[in-house]
Amino acid sequence: MSSKLRLGVLASGGGTNLQAIIDSCQDGSLDATIALVLTNNPDAGALERAHQAGIQTVCVNHRDFSKREDFDHAVVKSLQDAGVELVVLAGFMRIITQTFLDAFPLRVINIHPALLPAFPGLHVQQQAIDYGARFSGCTVHFVDSGVDTGPIIIQAVVPVYQDDTADNLAERILEQEHHIYSRAIQLIAEGRVHVDGRLVTIDPPCPPEAMALVNPGLDT
Ligand code: GRF
Repeated sequence: MSSKLRLGVLASGGGTNLQAIIDSCQDGSLDATIALVLTNNPDAGALERAHQAGIQTVCVNHRDFSKREDFDHAVVKSLQDAGVELVVLAGFMRIITQTFLDAFPLRVINIHPALLPAFPGLHVQQQAIDYGARFSGCTVHFVDSGVDTGPIIIQAVVPVYQDDTADNLAERILEQEHHIYSRAIQLIAEGRVHVDGRLVTIDPPCPPEAMALVNPGLDT
């Protein structure tokens, strides 16, 4: 077995984040291997992307299970059978149970298209627009038992413009998601990510940069 960190990517939809991770593994910027792509949705576009890349896939359809726990047991078994070390939720539209988290303690990460703790949950690009936020972005975090509440690993910020639609904003955020998810995984693969309660530290820390984003800009 290779010594690269073995990823299990869970996706329910189109899988553009999965694609970005595949690309990063292929271009060498991410020193990991995708051992399994798992979906709950037999029509997920992510499946086709995995097939194209020659990655093993499995569909565990939640409709085949009457209890959430049983579904999670089946998912955990597939991941364990594939030797997965880090579980990467990439648009996986199921809330996972404690059973799942206990099987992979601090080894489940998620990407969320907002700057947590603002706007957890669903339809968050529209929420950011409706709230009048000047910035939004994306967050990679460890998964805990809450919804989008776990310790934050990395975030990227994008401006919200006054004529934005949820779709425009989602696209701007998604472009950043594709950068930061692979980066977060690489930091974990390098053993640089440490968790103490809610706080994540990166070792060695990034050098501080004197930087402010202002929207609308000061000279507009
Ligand atoms: C992304 O916006 C991600 O942040 C959210 O679900 C979406 C998945 O998109 N959790 P894709 O399937 O990776 O294209």
